[in-house]
Amino acid sequence: MPKSNSPDRSIWTTESGEIQIVDQRYLPHELVIATLASSHEAVQAISEMWVRGAPLIGATAAYGYYLGIAEATDENWHSHITDVAKALLASRPTAVNLAWAVKRMRAKVTAADRSEALQMAWQEAAAIAEEDIKLCHGIGMHGLELIKGLGKEKVNVLTHCNAGRMATVKWGTATAPIYLAHQAGIDIHVWVDETRPRNQGARITAWELAEAGIPHTVIVDNAGGHLMQAGQVDICLVGTDRTARNGDVANKIGTYLKALAAHDNEVPFYVALPSSTIDWECASGSEIPIEERSAEEVTHIWGHDEQSGSRRQVQLTPTASSAVNFGFDITPAKYVTGLITERGVCDASEESLRKLFIKNYE
Ligand code: MRU
Repeated sequence: MPKSNSPDRSIWTTESGEIQIVDQRYLPHELVIATLASSHEAVQAISEMWVRGAPLIGATAAYGYYLGIAEATDENWHSHITDVAKALLASRPTAVNLAWAVKRMRAKVTAADRSEALQMAWQEAAAIAEEDIKLCHGIGMHGLELIKGLGKEKVNVLTHCNAGRMATVKWGTATAPIYLAHQAGIDIHVWVDETRPRNQGARITAWELAEAGIPHTVIVDNAGGHLMQAGQVDICLVGTDRTARNGDVANKIGTYLKALAAHDNEVPFYVALPSSTIDWECASGSEIPIEERSAEEVTHIWGHDEQSGSRRQVQLTPTASSAVNFGFDITPAKYVTGLITERGVCDASEESLRKLFIKNYE
C-alpha cells in the first residue's frame, strides 16, 4: 500500500468490537473517523455518503447487517433483521454490491440462533472486507500489465469520480493499477475529473493520490475531451457500480461522455471491477436503476472556508432555478475497451465474462 498518514483502510474494526469508518464528507480537509453503532447508522452512513463507492457500500452493508442482529433480542431478531435488510437495500439503489453483500449475510445466518448468527455475521462481514482487499489487489496486478503494455515512457491516465481506496476497503479498483505502476517505477500521471456535483474526484481521488505521492492534476469535468484531442490521455481507467452481464456499465454521472470522447479519439477506455460488482441477473444497462439524489447537491456546494477553517456550504444557483441530480449513467459495452477484473482482463461482453466467471454464472 502507498505511504499515507491516514488509516490504510476505509472501514475497520477495533479490538473492542467497534466498527469504524472514515467519514468521507469531510475529506480532504479533515480526517474524521466515525463509529457505526447501530444498523440505523450504517443505513445513514450509506445514504448520506459518509461512505460511498460500490465495494465499500457492500462492506458497510455487511457490518450494518451484523449490527442489526447485535441490537435485536433473541425473540425479535428474525423480524428485526428483515427490516434492517430492507432499509439497507433501499439506502442506495445503483451499486449492486449492496444487494450482493446483504444476500451473502442473509444466507450465512438463516439457520442459526441469534448468538450463533451474531458470531457468523461478524465473521462474514470481516470476510467480505478482507476479500475486497484481495480482489482489488488482483485488479491492480492485471491492470499493471495493461499499463506496461501501452509501451509508453510516461503514462497519462484519466479517471472519473473516486474508484480509489476510499471507494473500496483498501486499494481501489481503478487506482489499484495506478498504485502498482507507480511502485514499479513507471512515470505515471493522473488527470482527475472533479466529478460534480459531489466532487469525489477533486476531494477524494486527489487526496488519495497526493497522500501516495502520485503526480496528478485535477481538471473540470468537461476538460477530458479536449485533453484526449490533444493526445494527452493514454488510457481512461474508471470504476463501476454495476456491470450488466452484456458488459454495459453503470458508473458516476459523466462516465458515458468520457467513453464517447475516448472512442472518438481512439483512447483505450477500461473499467475496473471486482466480481461482486457484476449483476448476472441484469441482461443490459437499461435494467440498471439509476439513483436520483437531492437537487440540493447541484444547487449548493460544500467547501473549506479558509477564514473559519471549517467546512461550509454555499448556494451556486438562483433560488428560482430547479435542478435535477442523476447519480449515474450507463456506458454501453461497445465503448468499453475491456473490463479489468480480479481474474484478468476481458472484453465487455457476456461471452467473455462467462469465460472468466463461469462458476458464478451457472
Ligand atoms: O456516488 P459514489 O461516490 O458512491 O459513486 C462512486 C463511483 O461512481 C465509483 O466509480 C464506483 O462506485 C466504483 S468504486 C470502486
